[in-house]
Amino acid sequence: MDGWPGHLWLEGATPVHLTPEQARPERRPRGPARRTGPRFLNPAMAPARTRSVLLLSDALNHGWLVPDGAPIRCLDAMCSTGLRVRRWRHEVPAEQVHRLHITANDLDEEALAWAKSSLEAHPTGRPLPERGQERSLPEGGFEVEGLRFTQEDARMALLHGGWQWIDLDPFGSPVPFLDAALQGMARRGVLEVTATDTAALTGSSASSARRRYGFQGPVDAYAHDDAVRALLGTIAMAAARVDRCITPLLALFDGHHVRVSVLVRTSKNGASEVLDHIGWRVREDDVPYRLVRHPDEEEVRRASGPLWTGPLWDEAITSRLTEEHERALCSPTSTALEALRADGLTWDHDDLEHAAREGSRTVRHIAAAAALMARNAKDVWLLRLDDLPRWAGTGGAPKMSRLLAALEQGGHQAARAPDLNPFIVTDAPFEEVLAAVRLLT
Ligand SMILES: C[S@@+](CC[C@H](N)C(=O)[O-])C[C@H]1O[C@@H](n2cnc3c(N)ncnc32)[C@H](O)[C@@H]1O
Repeated sequence: MDGWPGHLWLEGATPVHLTPEQARPERRPRGPARRTGPRFLNPAMAPARTRSVLLLSDALNHGWLVPDGAPIRCLDAMCSTGLRVRRWRHEVPAEQVHRLHITANDLDEEALAWAKSSLEAHPTGRPLPERGQERSLPEGGFEVEGLRFTQEDARMALLHGGWQWIDLDPFGSPVPFLDAALQGMARRGVLEVTATDTAALTGSSASSARRRYGFQGPVDAYAHDDAVRALLGTIAMAAARVDRCITPLLALFDGHHVRVSVLVRTSKNGASEVLDHIGWRVREDDVPYRLVRHPDEEEVRRASGPLWTGPLWDEAITSRLTEEHERALCSPTSTALEALRADGLTWDHDDLEHAAREGSRTVRHIAAAAALMARNAKDVWLLRLDDLPRWAGTGGAPKMSRLLAALEQGGHQAARAPDLNPFIVTDAPFEEVLAAVRLLT
């Protein structure tokens, strides 16, 4: 295999073989790093993989997807070198991991060979799933460490059906794969979707926004929130067409991609109600925006939509996505680290500290904002801190922590929204937010 074993790296608690051409990931990777050919590992996706470990562990520990003790049939439809599924095997709590019946699929033969060698080089030694009757492996398929690998078009792999956990992580837009994913789900399942076509989702590429998502809108402070809601709206409408409804669990704009995780259920009634959660955000002069079901002819010029206007997160689940929890699941033990160093991992004190910081950043602000992000869009304000002086007629913005404290003292809920830019989310009336800003500046 070309370039094997490359050089060793650690993501979460899982060893990774980077290709020889790929540089050590930089600190705080943000944008799409320069790709260095096939089997390239995008370090900017590490936080999304970490949150996937946390969500799957939460489903196993808290029984909200399948009954306690029951298996979960998972498909990583575009697994590349299999890092996500290996992270599930390495990092999901040891006493639960045998419940994961995982299939990982990709069209790229080299990437799959790399996945196989990575598993053989670093067996987890953890309990294997108890296999029942399963479809025999298609040509090109193999099984290592209880993980089944297939080499099919993702749509084929999805349509084999019965999946209770699907990960969709294509290059660019997930739209071509959505219908197959929704049809391939069990009656109740989790669908995790990555979209890197942010120019379309934010509306900055107006034609692809319209074509792919039927979406239009100004590119302003709300572009990130709009992107998340445009993707959710598209998934919700596609689900409704096959009698399914969605409940978002976690949805984030994370640097150069949008990542959403939704619970999908078969329900004709739920599907029929989908339009209750679809609307538009109209920019206004007296308040930053209003959410409407349909903009009129005049409003549509300053509106973005159609958007998902329901909750973005599940409160109970996201309130458990804490930094302590991330550390407990996704950090290597000192014994594992010693063994990896003996295998050639160069990982010093700075790397350890840096990895711990990055791990915390992955979930920072999530638990504190859970209750507010679980409300309908019309019941809370999402406000960019730097815009508040203009609305309040003050010289500058107050410190975010002081503003949040003032709003809470006034009997409201308020939190920092997890965006790269400083945003607050609050259920305080807009006038009260402005009054607090004036008082504090
Ligand atoms: C963004 S990468 C996936 C990265 C991977 N999930 C990870 O976390 O490392 C997209 C992958 O999709 C695969 N791919 C592209 N089109 C496909 C298709 N139609 N069916 C299956 N795999 C496909 C590519 O080979 C590539 O490995």
